[in-house]
Amino acid sequence: MKTFLLGFIAAFVVLPIGALAYFRLGLAEMRSDVRPTAWETRLMQSTVHASVRRGASGMQAPPPGNLEDAIVEGGKLYVNGCMGCHGEPGKAGEDLDHYPPVPQLPQVGTQYSEPELHWIVKHGIRNTAMSAYGPFYSDQQMWALASFLGRIDHMPPGLWERIQAKAPGSPTK
Ligand code: HEC
Repeated sequence: MKTFLLGFIAAFVVLPIGALAYFRLGLAEMRSDVRPTAWETRLMQSTVHASVRRGASGMQAPPPGNLEDAIVEGGKLYVNGCMGCHGEPGKAGEDLDHYPPVPQLPQVGTQYSEPELHWIVKHGIRNTAMSAYGPFYSDQQMWALASFLGRIDHMPPGLWERIQAKAPGSPTK
């Protein structure tokens, strides 16, 4: 009985107070130019993954019209709005010591499904440099971005060229 009580006190009193004190006393590292510990990185990553999985559960990508056109459309949006941070094939984007660091998507690809990618683009990831793009893109554009992002590290041949081709008659970009 005594051991049980001690265990109870440890679990429901000492541990929560200790955890609260850890944060309130400023012991949690918040500097983004200090490398996080492995456990913090794992905890952050798994928390984000679980939240994205839950948020996007039940969402379904609409049947694609022409898949290649959707990938090219999403790719062009990526080049204009995302490549500065996330990088292009063979060339890293600008990572101004962000923590969490910006994943270089053309090199590492992504584990997320297309509905999850749509959800991330729409809502962003809190406390990171990944903002919510929902107000700036239509739903259809975010599905196009998702089609593109899902293939970003294994692009079907010829599509990067189409993505980076300038529109006929366009002035500089
Ligand atoms: C200011 C830099 C910045 C810009 C611009 C930016 N992102 Fe991000 N993005 C991030 C960071 C940082 C993360 C990592 C967040 C984390 O670790 O939880 C991220 C994560 C992501 C992820 C999750 C990738 C994975 O597999 O873990 C996707 C997808 C994504 N961004 C898509 C986009 C798209 C699409 C755009 C443009 C519309 C964009 N991002 C613009 C910084 C940026």
